[in-house]
Amino acid sequence: MSQTLAVINCSQLVTLSGPARPRVGPELCQLSIVADGGMLIRDGRIATVGTRSEVEKLIDNDCEVVDAGGRIVLPGFVDAHAHPVFAGTRANEFEERSQGASYQEIAARGGGIQSTVNATRAATLDGLVASGKRYAEWFIRSGTTTVEAKSGYGLTVEDELKTLRAIKRLDEETPLRYVPTFLGAHSIPAEYKSRREEYVSLIIDEMLPRIAQEELAEYCDVFCEANVFTTDESRRILSAARAQGLGLRIHADQLSLSGGAQLAAELGATTADHLEYTDTAGIAALKSAGVQPVLLPGSVYALGSSHYPAAREMIAAGLAVVLATDFNPGSSPTPSMPMILSLASTQMKMTPAESITAATINAAYSLNRGDKIGSLEAGKVADFVIYDCYDYRDLAYFFGIEHPWRVYTGARQVFRRL
Ligand code: NIG
Ligand code: FE
Repeated sequence: MSQTLAVINCSQLVTLSGPARPRVGPELCQLSIVADGGMLIRDGRIATVGTRSEVEKLIDNDCEVVDAGGRIVLPGFVDAHAHPVFAGTRANEFEERSQGASYQEIAARGGGIQSTVNATRAATLDGLVASGKRYAEWFIRSGTTTVEAKSGYGLTVEDELKTLRAIKRLDEETPLRYVPTFLGAHSIPAEYKSRREEYVSLIIDEMLPRIAQEELAEYCDVFCEANVFTTDESRRILSAARAQGLGLRIHADQLSLSGGAQLAAELGATTADHLEYTDTAGIAALKSAGVQPVLLPGSVYALGSSHYPAAREMIAAGLAVVLATDFNPGSSPTPSMPMILSLASTQMKMTPAESITAATINAAYSLNRGDKIGSLEAGKVADFVIYDCYDYRDLAYFFGIEHPWRVYTGARQVFRRL
């Protein structure tokens, strides 16, 4: 028997319906809101979107009805850049940074990413799944229903495989949807510091073929930055990844202008992420190559910096901007997309509407899922959130609270506020 669910009495049904491609320029402001709206969902997919009265006509005796009580309804957030599988935390480093130490200083003396690598190597697969489940719940109750998940805290063949297997299990065992990315090029691990060439070869010759063969990742990412991976090393790793059938993403120009955006354009990467130091030439290169920028203001904020990426310039240049959390234990310990919307408005001067588009439909396209998620349109998967808000702008405006009232993935209720 088919399962039907009707959602009615939504003061604003924020559908994001529109052209079947990422949104640019003024399109970022167009949320396609149905006032007093409703949705009919069949077998986990959206069947009809319309006004409440249009949807109510379709309700029969077998239909379960959810009354949103005049609240707003949006597609679940799609978080297109996160590092949600790791062991341990770095509260100690956070405290040191609060006393003036810099992220780079801490990394240079063997802390930073390497300290999470040490903890992650010591963890079992089950241990990573257990901590990952805790974070999955944090994402869900912030309104996120799909998350991109990078490896990159293992940095040996077995520990990278362990991390990607944990991501696969989290996708199967939690209501959150995961898109796996291989980030073996996150850092040169301590034992390879004096022979970095060998580590690059390990990634290209051993890690990538195994991961591709076991189909454990859809994308490959590289941290391209002075003192991490050079543009030349990044080019070699990403070219090898492409030959193995993986899509490409790059941590680019996060801490300095290091050529990452230009490299993303040269390689035709799907995304270039961070871009705090990208210049006008880099923005033009991204535009001409059709690369989507993924902006991560949570990491700028949490590192105590004020060097936010040039979002307005990117929007004016016609780039299909994406916003994401960069959730990780070092530079951005937040899973909250509403927090990111707040930062986007206050620090990067993006309107709430632009930010919502960047965190839903544009993010879905950046993960090759624009036809399935990211908007509320007939045929799409019923991943949606009812917020305890009555105006969509409240999601960015009131910050520091959890807005969701009910969260659904595939039409199944996975979070409910008491
Ligand atoms: O995106 N830039 C590199 N990677 C992460 C930080 C990871 C960490 O500090 O553990 C980032 O900011
Ligand atoms: Fe990151």
